[in-house]
Amino acid sequence: MNKALIRLAGLLLFPVAAGMLFAAPRIIKPGEPWLDNRGQLIQAHGGGVTLWKGTYYWFGEDRTQTNAPDKRYVACYFSRDLVHWKFRRQVLALADPEHLGSRWVLERPKVYANPRTGKFVLYAHLDDARYKVARVMIAVSDRIDGDYRYVKSFRPLDQESRDIGQFVDDDGSAYLVFESRPTRGFFIARLTDDYMSVEKTAFIQAPLEGGALVHYGGLYYVVGSHMTGWRPNPNVYATAPSLTGPWTEFKNLAPPEANNYNSQSTMLLKVVGSKKTTVIFMGDIWKPRQLWDSRYLWMPLDMNAGTMQLPPPQPWQLSIKTGEVAIQK
Ligand code: GAL
Repeated sequence: MNKALIRLAGLLLFPVAAGMLFAAPRIIKPGEPWLDNRGQLIQAHGGGVTLWKGTYYWFGEDRTQTNAPDKRYVACYFSRDLVHWKFRRQVLALADPEHLGSRWVLERPKVYANPRTGKFVLYAHLDDARYKVARVMIAVSDRIDGDYRYVKSFRPLDQESRDIGQFVDDDGSAYLVFESRPTRGFFIARLTDDYMSVEKTAFIQAPLEGGALVHYGGLYYVVGSHMTGWRPNPNVYATAPSLTGPWTEFKNLAPPEANNYNSQSTMLLKVVGSKKTTVIFMGDIWKPRQLWDSRYLWMPLDMNAGTMQLPPPQPWQLSIKTGEVAIQK
């Protein structure tokens, strides 16, 4: 072979070999510090993941210690494999928008991509220090990872609303799940065409928060936690053939003594691969006194004809392409 050819082959093969040597393994380690591309703890607590044009965007509460104390922050990360996350920016750095007073609350932000308007709409729980305001807020951006502009706050369906959850069905319909204490249950409310408001779809008489939904194998599965604040409790689930029910009784997601492995639900993320559809339980392991160091518990759920179980947390691998997972025993 002549020299030029050998050099060319080397040049072509080097990135492949280097990629094989240096590619970090695609392993999710529940409960361990999850670092972004800068080596910093991912700040996306009570968060949600939005798939947009083949890239996953993870939004959540940014509790960085050096954040300005009078502002509330939402951070945005992106990834193609759900394992390695690049910090994009703080998409929201908001000063008290409604005279809520010091220690005001912005929690559980979720971003919806509206295909009709081309806008990105961020919903979050807005409250005062005593959680008496119980509203949702909306901020809007023209880009998924751009600066979000505060628009308004309101009580969805005129109800008190605290923890919120996000669900986008297979047909593209987008829903807000919100907990309503006076009615002792939670609502599933479809977003209006412009995503700037909601309309009632279903109410489930079960006082649960951290509400999350997934459509899998012809059934809807809803997950929630009991109301014990930051302290973990056994999360539960129910199923129904349609969002309006009838919903089954709630059952434990894990053995109750496991206390949901110290986590609280925030979202159910469905990964549709070429060989398998996997549903990931996304939970928060809260550290109330060091919220910035709160951890994440992401595990693939065991799903089987109407049952759903959260397995004990173990490091695991995911193939975004095939949807297959391998749990390390
Ligand atoms: C939890 C809720 C969190 C946060 C916390 C405050 O029940 O899920 O988002 O509001 O209470 O105590």
